[in-house]
Amino acid sequence: MFHPMARGAHRLVLPPKGYETMKYLHWSEEYNTGVQTIDNDHKDLFSLVNALQKEMESHTPAKNIDKILAALGRYVEKHFKHEEEIMKAYNYPGFAAHKAAHRELALDVHALHKAHVSHPSEVDEEKLLKFLRNWLSNHILRSDMDYVPYIRNKSTSEIENTPIPEDIGSAVTSDGLETVDVSVRVPQESVAALRRCAVLLNAHGEEAATFTELVMSAKTLTLEEADSRVDKLMQD
Ligand SMILES: [Fe+2]
Ligand SMILES: [Fe+2]
Repeated sequence: MFHPMARGAHRLVLPPKGYETMKYLHWSEEYNTGVQTIDNDHKDLFSLVNALQKEMESHTPAKNIDKILAALGRYVEKHFKHEEEIMKAYNYPGFAAHKAAHRELALDVHALHKAHVSHPSEVDEEKLLKFLRNWLSNHILRSDMDYVPYIRNKSTSEIENTPIPEDIGSAVTSDGLETVDVSVRVPQESVAALRRCAVLLNAHGEEAATFTELVMSAKTLTLEEADSRVDKLMQD
């Protein structure tokens, strides 16, 4: 559970936890999809989760756990994008559901990171670790293996060179910029800010890159939303 108790980054010396007797995630044949780039991504995810366990076992300062959770969040996003591009290119029929499952996990990892940064002593690290291990292992063995037959006989270079279909409403222009038609309802006082965002992104320079990074890292979760998501994850 996620207990509303003493806040702050101070860490107590605690008795051994369950994860200290837990074996590290070990790569075995059953995880092989046969698609080298995907297997490499999955192995990196295993390494990140194992690194998290190692830090927890050594009762490292909370900021080290935060760093790994942040790295995991970034890697998960990168891997999901990679996998989704391949599934889409090969017309995998379960694409929408698979993408939705990815989105949920990306939000969960983001929520765990946000909650841990904000009040580390309140997050049950053992449950956090178990959740990530189970999700990773189950997702590869069940969901990812489901799309494998649709792409398995393709070589890695064939997969990587397959053009990714464009999204409806977007097109890449000759100057390399992608035009996207967006219609969105916002409060009147936000209209000027929204226009400014569009101008900034259109400028395509360093400021645009910084702005994009800021927006992507902010995602959509408030701290309250992150806490309530973590509460649900941590329930038995
Ligand atoms: Fe997946
Ligand atoms: Fe995957």
